[in-house]
Amino acid sequence: MKFLGQPVQRFANVDSTNAVARRLAERRAPEGTCIVAETQSAGRGRLGREWHSPPGGLWLSVVLRPKLAARDIGKLSLVAGVAATEAIREVVRLPAMTKWPNDVVVAGKKVCGVLVEGRWQGETADFLVAGIGINVAIDLAALPPDVRATAGTLLEPRDPADALAVREALLGSLLKKLETSYRRFLSGGFSGILEKARLYSDTLGRQVVAAGSDARIQGTAVGIASDAALIVRTPSGDVRVVSGDVTIRGVSGGYSG
Ligand code: BTN
Repeated sequence: MKFLGQPVQRFANVDSTNAVARRLAERRAPEGTCIVAETQSAGRGRLGREWHSPPGGLWLSVVLRPKLAARDIGKLSLVAGVAATEAIREVVRLPAMTKWPNDVVVAGKKVCGVLVEGRWQGETADFLVAGIGINVAIDLAALPPDVRATAGTLLEPRDPADALAVREALLGSLLKKLETSYRRFLSGGFSGILEKARLYSDTLGRQVVAAGSDARIQGTAVGIASDAALIVRTPSGDVRVVSGDVTIRGVSGGYSG
């Protein structure tokens, strides 16, 4: 049965699709409710950052109601990142890769970000909101210079009709892939998703700097563990990175997300 995108609610402009989805979830919106906006005036990114959402992007959030422990939220972020990577590969036919934990990059430029937020009852999710932003055909000049340095767009924003068709195709593909992976995840099939995360990874084998809340770890990304943590090999041993910001070194200027 298809439930993701039942219903899809569309808006010209919202503060943040994650915020709208959260407000609806608080009023008992069913699992699968999807919010899509053409622009966001207060788009939210990971680590408290702003997410710039000019016209031409696909900005969406879905309400999920899994029985999920707080410690497993990283796995769900990976599920969403892999689904977005596969949707971009399928629809735009570009070699999209996943930068740990769940950015999607094309030729080293970030084209998509994922933000999973939730409300918790103790250690269990009451509901979650998975927000996905894809730079489908945006004007990179509309982004602030520091963001523009590392951001990419799937298409040049020349032909609005073409861009709209691609956005719609991406929305359809993404909801389908996310639903399949989410179901698989809930029925204990995370290892298959992990395999894909490793396959599409742009991070494994690279020199990285991982900046968490209390430490900065420098080394080679050598694995993604079964709980979705990134394993970084350092001179003093392997370190597990569970959250925070990872910058790939050896790329002009490095990039993070
Ligand atoms: C990141 O920092 O990489 C995550 C960005 C997530 C952006 C998307 S756009 C749709 C949804 N609504 C938001 O406010 N944020 C997410």
